[in-house]
Amino acid sequence: MKKQVFVCQNRCCRQYGSDRVLAAFQRDPVEGVTVKTCGCTGHCGNGPMVLVEPDGIWYWRVHPDEVPTIIERHLRGGQPVKGMLYPKVHHG
Ligand code: FES
Repeated sequence: MKKQVFVCQNRCCRQYGSDRVLAAFQRDPVEGVTVKTCGCTGHCGNGPMVLVEPDGIWYWRVHPDEVPTIIERHLRGGQPVKGMLYPKVHHG
């Protein structure tokens, strides 16, 4: 199933460097995965926010250095990266 990665590029997430997070995803394209920008997802202050659909998986406070881990484990390996999940959505 084709995946989509949404990287919030609204003001608040940009303050935390979401443009560099987006660039990190774009640097290493994964077959069958589309990387898109999106507007505010309503989780300001916890960003940069990244959403992977259709998995419904949210990552928060994503640092560009962490993007390769998301790409390898989740986008290529199919396993969400537990330690980076957004706790407000993914409890426990
Ligand atoms: S600006 Fe990214 S969640 Fe609001």
